[in-house]
Amino acid sequence: LYLGLDTGTSGTKAVLIDESGRLLASDLQEYGLSTPRPQWAEQHPDTDWWEAAVKAIQGVLAKAGKSGAEVAGVGLTGQMHGSVFLDKSLKVLRPALLWCDSRTGAECAEITEALGGAEGCFEILGQPVFTSFTAPKIVWLRKNEPAVYEKVAQVLLPKDYIRFKLTGELAAEVSDASGTSLFDVRKRTWSKEALAKLGIPSEWLPRVVESPEQTGVISAEAAALTGLKAGTPVVGGGGDQAAGAVGCGVVSTGQVVSSLGTSGVVFAHSDTAAIDPQMRVQTFCHAVPGTWGQMGCVISAGGSLRWYRDTFAAGTSYNDITAGAATAPAGCEGLLYLPYLAGERNPYFDPDARGVFFGATLRSTKGAVLEGVSYAFKDLFTLFAEMGVPVSEIRASGGGAKSPFWLQLMADVIEKKHVLLTIDEGPALGAALLAAVGTGAYASVPEACAATVSTRPGAEPDATQSAVYNRYYPTYRALYPALQESFA
Ligand code: XUL
Repeated sequence: LYLGLDTGTSGTKAVLIDESGRLLASDLQEYGLSTPRPQWAEQHPDTDWWEAAVKAIQGVLAKAGKSGAEVAGVGLTGQMHGSVFLDKSLKVLRPALLWCDSRTGAECAEITEALGGAEGCFEILGQPVFTSFTAPKIVWLRKNEPAVYEKVAQVLLPKDYIRFKLTGELAAEVSDASGTSLFDVRKRTWSKEALAKLGIPSEWLPRVVESPEQTGVISAEAAALTGLKAGTPVVGGGGDQAAGAVGCGVVSTGQVVSSLGTSGVVFAHSDTAAIDPQMRVQTFCHAVPGTWGQMGCVISAGGSLRWYRDTFAAGTSYNDITAGAATAPAGCEGLLYLPYLAGERNPYFDPDARGVFFGATLRSTKGAVLEGVSYAFKDLFTLFAEMGVPVSEIRASGGGAKSPFWLQLMADVIEKKHVLLTIDEGPALGAALLAAVGTGAYASVPEACAATVSTRPGAEPDATQSAVYNRYYPTYRALYPALQESFA
């Protein structure tokens, strides 16, 4: 059996699978998000993540009726970019700043300048610096909490802190490290140049491995707490998007996963480190050794729907909202919605962008929010097309994919077939598969996926509907450039 553990933003999830990819059980332990000030988002690595990890591992073993001795390997995944600051005795110094924390706008500008502007970022990192990423959090600490900064001896990503607690080992892996703004994604190694230019000691970062590689074994102490067996191998794992792609079988060219969660993410497998010269999408190392992923993020995807429900339709369910949207004419007679409630990552990297309704009339109808989010996804696929990233099949994953209406809308707007996963357990499943590869059950990640991941029909684009959306899409695309100055 293989255990995948996902240190997510709303909770930690453990899944247990057998070698054929059959899901035996899953367990979710939820926690909150602390926002002590506007733009701040923090969680505590010990009292939030580690406590939840212990409970989720115990929980999944109990639900499956299995003993830890039957687990042959553990794979880790989690929210990317967060900063766990440890002192020299490897104790947590303060709560971690999360990917959704946006306090670091000024630090991003400083780092971009230190690296030589957009061109320097392209050369050194292969991506722009954004508030989500890790380096700006380190620089923020240096400026704002110097007494804490002075004590820092190690910086870990969320899942890598859980690795440390499980095994006592300090290690990172390439897919998660790609999101630190301290990593050379082309060479798959920490960027000495970025570290030097930012004055961040390289000793603060752990060694970095490819995702299926073993990084230690469950310690006696962790075994006593979790019920796992001491000596069980733990593999590198992956950032949630790369591991999620593995869990969806997106491990060869042409395959793309589109995940419809609170945020929406599109991740395309790539055999080369093709980096958009304008850096409108992110190129990160994939969890398949020697390959990359092109990734784009719609920050408020499902989040837009939740905002709409809470603001305009309190007391209704998501099903009521999609049912209402289904009665609206395609294109909503020109009512357009830009989903930039919390700024937008791709293609604009603009934390100041805001949500917009445009073109309302006395007759305006109810489907605009879902359509707007779908157009935001279309923006990402339009970029992929411009970059020559092939898209032969879109695998839809996450809560939003469960809505047949939204899935059909995505297929119609993007004009591509969407399929669903037989088992949709996302990143935790991918992490478990990486453990199966790293402990020798499969020779490679693609081999593991071929043996375990299967799809079922989703939605085919309807040309008549697509033609309607194609009439409105150019206006949607023109709105952000027209409004950009007013957002700032
Ligand atoms: C990826 C990203 C999110 C977080 C949290 O770049 O910001 O996927 O990892 O899920």
